Amino acid sequence: MDILKLGMPELRQKALPVSRITPDYELLAQNMLDTLHKYKGAGLAGPQVGVLERIYVIHLERDKPLVFINPSITETSPDTCLCEEGCLSIPGFWGDITRPKTVRVQAWNEKGRPFTLEASGLLARVIQHEYDHLEGVLYIDHLSQVKRERLVSKYERLNKTGAKRK
Ligand code: NI
Repeated sequence: MDILKLGMPELRQKALPVSRITPDYELLAQNMLDTLHKYKGAGLAGPQVGVLERIYVIHLERDKPLVFINPSITETSPDTCLCEEGCLSIPGFWGDITRPKTVRVQAWNEKGRPFTLEASGLLARVIQHEYDHLEGVLYIDHLSQVKRERLVSKYERLNKTGAKRK
């Protein structure tokens, strides 16, 4: 699968709930995980591959891959942490973002089984980053306006054709 990059309108749309988790979603999740591995990322959301549905996959080193369909973040800790984040849709760039340290998330997996997860550390961070993608939000939206504009203009300068679509 190709990963859509900054500037593509799909990345700014709100993804729709999955109405029924059919066997097609096992295949979609596997394709998304294959793409995630190919580009050595930590997480990948539907809108990043042009699928405007509420699904994302996460695979952290030494952990099993996780598939989240129709996720909801039901709790976030008041404690926050400032950590560096990047995104496969904005390759080559990073920014320091403040987010809650721990989250509780409820979702369904690719087989249609519901699960609840308490996450901290990197997993909590990636869950929030990917969830944002379903809302059409990118990590750069959490930066100050000055930092965001600086990053975007540098990105556009380096990707003159990639940022535009015919
Ligand atoms: Ni991302």
